[in-house]
Amino acid sequence: MKTDCSDVGKILFTRRKIARRVKKLGAEVSEKYAGLRPVCVCVLKGAAIFFSDFVRALKIDAELDFIAVSTYGAGTSSSGRLNIKSDVSTNLSGRDVIIVEDVVDSGFTMYKLKALFEERGARSVAIAALFDKPDKRKYDTCADFSCFSVGDEFIVGYGLDFDEKFRSLPFVGVLKKSEIEKQPNN
Ligand code: PRP
Repeated sequence: MKTDCSDVGKILFTRRKIARRVKKLGAEVSEKYAGLRPVCVCVLKGAAIFFSDFVRALKIDAELDFIAVSTYGAGTSSSGRLNIKSDVSTNLSGRDVIIVEDVVDSGFTMYKLKALFEERGARSVAIAALFDKPDKRKYDTCADFSCFSVGDEFIVGYGLDFDEKFRSLPFVGVLKKSEIEKQPNN
């Protein structure tokens, strides 16, 4: 059965608003990386849709790669672990890397991933995020480029999920509390 949009209480970012902002981000990043050929790394799965629009908004040549990670013990201390489920295939040594992420929340994923790419010898590592949740930050990291700052709402759509649902919605909205409470763990 197709995801029911009625579970989304309020639309925060329409398809048009996102498209306009991502296009602007593409121009901003292109200016900063003029003359370079960065490697854009999509953090799966949440960033997949943002990534496809972002890289097409770039006015420079870029290489594309993908990484899938999960976190263990994140949010409590920096001893949390980043588990790489599927790694990039590009040799990042000497390269300018742009990590493309959907949400920077506690900052754990970006903190660890940036350190990993630096260890692998990247010349530079920047973070381009669709959403930044600065109030939730627990790790010393920040997005170099971000489209929107958001609060603590549970947002879904345009790649962001709840229990693997809502990723394909073309807009971003706040999930209704009643939908979150349906989960057995809540
Ligand atoms: C989400 C999101 C980020 C991470 C942000 O991933 O996509 O990767 O959490 O949180 P942090 O800043 O606290 O580390 P999730 O584990 O939900 O996987 P998904 O991308 O497949 O939805």
